Amino acid sequence: MSVQQNAKKILVTGGAGYIGSHTCLLLLEAGFDVVVVDNLSNSSLESLRRVEKLTEKFIRFYKVDVTDQKALNAVFVDHEFEAVVHFAGLKAVGESSQIPLTYYEQNVHGSVTLIKVMQAHNLKRIVFSSSATVYGDPASVPIKEDFPTSATNPYGRTKLFVEEILRDQAVADNEWQIVLLRYFNPVGAHISGQIGEHPQGIPNNLMPYISQVAVGQREFLSVFGNDYSTPDGTGVRDYIHVVDLSDAHVKAIQKIASFAGVTTLNLGTGNGYSVLDMVKAFEQGSGKNVPYKLVERRPGDIAECWADPSYAGVILGWEAKKGLDEMIEDTWRWQSNNPNGFNK
Ligand code: NAD
Ligand code: UFG
Repeated sequence: MSVQQNAKKILVTGGAGYIGSHTCLLLLEAGFDVVVVDNLSNSSLESLRRVEKLTEKFIRFYKVDVTDQKALNAVFVDHEFEAVVHFAGLKAVGESSQIPLTYYEQNVHGSVTLIKVMQAHNLKRIVFSSSATVYGDPASVPIKEDFPTSATNPYGRTKLFVEEILRDQAVADNEWQIVLLRYFNPVGAHISGQIGEHPQGIPNNLMPYISQVAVGQREFLSVFGNDYSTPDGTGVRDYIHVVDLSDAHVKAIQKIASFAGVTTLNLGTGNGYSVLDMVKAFEQGSGKNVPYKLVERRPGDIAECWADPSYAGVILGWEAKKGLDEMIEDTWRWQSNNPNGFNK
């Protein structure tokens, strides 16, 4: 396994997770050297071992919590980084209402700690994982970056707060170069079927739930509401392939040195699909039945959410290339090859 000599080094927090592991793979393929810090609270080191096998490149890993300033500082003493991609954090919307303080601690305090350590080491380039959740219930679709922001749950508030904290930092010190990437609904897996999403316990999100039904681990999907003002009454979202999403991070890292202050970008495809569209498409792609039951709306859900991703095209020269068929094929390959995720 090779270490790339003279390659620019990127710190990826939360790099063992779903989006992080795909981004590490693409960063290595693009010629960057990658260092990961992750506390493994929602992931396993096996994801990075597989990325190493796929790329035949080495990843330096630190089991470090981003709220631990001393441990994080030690990583920065060991390495000189070009930039940071900050994925580390908790992401379950429902759970965030039950344990809000944990979300503020991990997501907000963790980010502030990281920013402090970066500042102390004079590293001022960061790409941050934000979310379309910061648009709350948008007045119209497609959603543009200048739409008003709001939050309807503690998770969403942590994303909004960290965005604001980074904006304040850019005002206080104009050397900061910050990219806020607002993801719509990441799905899919790497084409190898070796890495993918491995939710712990009952999945909160639609795609992993559907794929667990298709593989026979769960009996049926509960469709949360069919009385929305959408074509078939079920919720409409902008599903984006995780490899396209990761590719945008690589492009952001390649360009970040030319940016000033804060750049905010939507990452979506610009297409909306309903829950029932997803069920039908998954049945076609996998050849399996996905039984479902119509149930009550899930509290906090909105009718429609899809992006205008054109600004990311202008700024990064990026657009999502993979359509729904690939999202489903790749999810299914990963799920059927690894019914227990990264567990043996
Ligand atoms: P994930 O849970 O798979 O990855 C997050 C990683 O961060 C995990 O490996 C976890 O172990 C690690 N982590 C959590 N808290 C940490 C801490 N305090 N210190 C160090 N490591 C820590 O989630 P993901 O889907 O890959 O999401 C990555 C980022 O993208 C998150 O910030 C999430 O909020 C954001 N995001 C995700 C989605 C989505 O639908 N997946 C949508 C919008 C935004
Ligand atoms: N849904 C179901 N049944 C399920 C799960 C979901 O019908 O078992 C429906 C939801 O009601 C919604 C759609 O499928 O209409 C998508 O739901 P997800 O939970 O997959 O995704 P959300 O759009 O609710 O939220 C996701 C992430 C958030 C992120 C947001 C950004 O979970 O973290 O996308 O758009 F903020």
